[in-house]
Amino acid sequence: MTRTCLAVILAAGDSTRMKSSMSKVLHPIAGLPMIAHVMTSVRAAGMRDAVLVVGRDAEKVTKAGSIAEMTVSSVLQTERRGTGHAVLTAREAIAKGYDDVLVTYGDVPLVRPETFLAARAKLAEGADVVVIGFHAANPVGYGRLLVKDGELVAIREEKDATDEERKVTWCNSGLMVINGARALSWLDKIDNKNAKREFYLTDIVEIARADGGKVVAIDAPEAELAGCNTRAELAALEASWQVRRRHDLMLSGVSMIAPETVFLAHDTVLAQDVLIEPNVVFGPGVTVETGAVIHAFSHLEGAHVAEDATVGPFARLRPGANLAEGAKVGNFCEVKKAEIGAGAKVNHLTYIGDAVVGAGTNIGAGTITCNYDGVNKHETRIGENAFIGSNSALVAPVSIGNGAYVASGSVITENIPDEALAFGRARQEVKPERAKVVRERALALKASKKAER
Ligand code: UD1
Ligand code: CA
Repeated sequence: MTRTCLAVILAAGDSTRMKSSMSKVLHPIAGLPMIAHVMTSVRAAGMRDAVLVVGRDAEKVTKAGSIAEMTVSSVLQTERRGTGHAVLTAREAIAKGYDDVLVTYGDVPLVRPETFLAARAKLAEGADVVVIGFHAANPVGYGRLLVKDGELVAIREEKDATDEERKVTWCNSGLMVINGARALSWLDKIDNKNAKREFYLTDIVEIARADGGKVVAIDAPEAELAGCNTRAELAALEASWQVRRRHDLMLSGVSMIAPETVFLAHDTVLAQDVLIEPNVVFGPGVTVETGAVIHAFSHLEGAHVAEDATVGPFARLRPGANLAEGAKVGNFCEVKKAEIGAGAKVNHLTYIGDAVVGAGTNIGAGTITCNYDGVNKHETRIGENAFIGSNSALVAPVSIGNGAYVASGSVITENIPDEALAFGRARQEVKPERAKVVRERALALKASKKAER
C-alpha cells in the first residue's frame, strides 16, 4: 500500500481491574509485552509512524512499544476524558498530514495485520471512516453499530442506547481508520454531552456523515478483538495466542502430538519436520532446526537445536545452549552456555555449563561440569570423540583432549592430553573373606542390644 498511515495507539488506561503494579499493556503475552504485540501487527500492516497515547508508566510503555523499523513517539494524556479526547492528545502528529489515521487500543493485542489492511483498503476505495466491528456473543457493554443501506450511521454506547438498539449484536471493537485529511476537523467537533460525560470517539461517525463523509463498518472475528481488563482476560488472551501460533506452526510443517500442552514464546522458531512431544515449554530465544525432536516435558530457553538433534524427555536447555547436528541431550540433563558438538551425547542426569563438548563425544550419566567456584564461572573444554565415564566431576577450568578417556567416578582437576586415560579416584581394594567378619560383628552388636532390653 502506497498510502501513508499514522497509527494512534490508546494506552492511557489505569489498569485498575488488573490489580497490578504496572500498566496492563506491559503485561507479557508469550513473553512479549502486550503493547509490543500491537506494534508488531501495526508494522506488519505497513505502518511506519505511530503515536502512543500514554498515562500510567508512560516511560516504560513508550520503551516497550518502540519496536525496530518504526518511528514511535508518545504523548501523555494526563486526564482520561474519553477515547475522543485520547485521540486528540495526538493532535500534533495527526496534523503532520497522513493519508490514513488508524486508531487502535494498546490492550487489544491479537488483531491480525490483515484486519488493519482490510480497513485501510476501504479508505483507499473512498470511505472516510472505517470502523472494525465484530459479532459479539454477549454485546453488553459494547458500543452498537447502527447500519442503514450498507453504511454505518451511528455507534451507540450501551449507556446511551434505547432498548431496541441494545438488541443489536454487531459491536464496535473501538478500532477504526479515518481519512487523515479530515480527521482533525471531525475530532474537534466531538463533545461530551452523553451519559458518561466523556468525549466519545464513536461520535465521529455521525459527525463525518453530517459533513458529507462516507462511513462504513467491516467485520472481524471476535477472538481477534478481545481486550484485556483483568488477569483472567490476560490468561484468555495468552491461550488464544498460543492456539493461533501452534496452528500456524503445524501448518508450516511442525508436528505436535498434543499441541494444547506445548507453550511457545513470541519468537520461537521451529523449522519444518520438527517434532514436539507433549508438555514442552519454550522460553524466549529458541530456534529448532529441521528433523530435530523435542521429547516430552522439556524446557528450552535461549537455545539453538540443530538438524536432527534430540532433546529430552525431561531436559532443560538454558540460555547459550547450542546443540550441533545430531547431538543428543537426554533425560534430566541441564545444559547452559555450552556447545554440544555434532553427534555428541549427553544422555542422563548431567549438568553441562560453560563448556565446549566436541563432536562425537560421549558424556556418561551423572557427569557434572563444576563451573562455579562460588565467585567466578570457569570453562570446561572437551575435545572430539572423548569418553567421560559416569559420575565424573570436571572441575573447571579444565580441558580434556580429543579421544581422551576419563574413568568413571573421577574428579578431574588437571588437563588431560589427547588420547590419554585419566583416573581421578581412589583405587579399589578387594579383601577376600572379609565380608563374613563384618557381618558377624554386626550380628553380635544386634544381639547385645537385645540382651540389654
Ligand atoms: C470503547 C468504545 C465502545 C467499544 C469498546 C470496545 C467509545 C466511546 N466507546 O468503550 O464503542 O465497544 O471501546 O472495547 O469509544 N483510553 C485512553 N484514554 C481515555 C479513554 C480510553 O487511553 O481517555 C483507552 C483505554 O485505555 C482503552 C481504550 O482506550 O485501551 C478504550 O477505552 P475504554 O474505556 O475501555 O472504552 P469503553 O468505554 O470500553
Ligand atoms: Ca473497554
